Amino acid sequence: MSHMRILVHHERAERWCEALRERLDSSDIEILADDGETLGDILVVWAPPAALFERHRDVKAILNLGAGVDSLLANPALPREVPVLKLRDAGMASHMLDYVRYGLLHFRRDFDRYAVQQSERHWAPHRVVRARHYPVAVLGLGAIGRQIAEALAADGYPVHGFSRSAHTLEGVTCHHEQGEGGRSLKAVLGDETLGLKAVINLLPNTTATRDVLNAEVFAALPDDAVLINPGRGSSVVEEDLLAALEKDQLRGALLDVFQHEPLAGDSPLWQHPKVIITPHAAAPTPVSEAADQLAENIRRVQRGESLTGISLEHGY
Ligand code: GLV
Repeated sequence: MSHMRILVHHERAERWCEALRERLDSSDIEILADDGETLGDILVVWAPPAALFERHRDVKAILNLGAGVDSLLANPALPREVPVLKLRDAGMASHMLDYVRYGLLHFRRDFDRYAVQQSERHWAPHRVVRARHYPVAVLGLGAIGRQIAEALAADGYPVHGFSRSAHTLEGVTCHHEQGEGGRSLKAVLGDETLGLKAVINLLPNTTATRDVLNAEVFAALPDDAVLINPGRGSSVVEEDLLAALEKDQLRGALLDVFQHEPLAGDSPLWQHPKVIITPHAAAPTPVSEAADQLAENIRRVQRGESLTGISLEHGY
């Protein structure tokens, strides 16, 4: 196993360094500051500045401290020939599932309506809608989306998965966009026979997924459907979402991610009565599980194994 220097760039880099030192024999694990001079062989990073890659052209691998690689791919200095490995689930799916279940319960059990009624001192119980009568769509069937789709199916929801290429998942009706039998997102979400009540967005941020949740799609969805977005804000045209909520084309939205973060103080989303906002907090990266996965990937690099990094073509 060849000796390699591992450098970590993150706002809480020391924590990650410690977790990696506990798991790896190597003691050559250091914090990489924005202006750090040390050169590394393996970089462990989250949304680093371009200048960092300008100094590191010859690294063996770049390990992303998150599931989404959008900020890395947007970095103009990212060395395109170096494998980029992202975290796959690493404990994030379980946090994400909590968040999605909360959103589904909130709307399915009418907590949004009861909040309005409470402000009016109005006593009126609603009929309970069971999970089996609450079809949901999970957009994006990557390491996280797949687990969410299967877990919701096990909870009793009729689940429709949507992804670029065809998938097969236990208990989930899978729809795909490309290739034989492919249908567009709008065609699937607007398919009246599905009677969708909720759309859960877990698509990655790529050129293909930008603005896909737009006026046309909101108009095609049933009017009592809700949007739950713990994935990426780039998929949603926020102006169109607001307009759809105003026109009662959508019942509500639970949003964790936005086109621009932090969400601007003057965004009308903050005060909208049908919107619940959380600050990109649905699924923080759990250090211990993520460090296990990073250590495993670092060992692969040290052994000189060939690595399956993310696809630059697809952007995830
Ligand atoms: C968080 O947004 C992540 O990509 O892990």
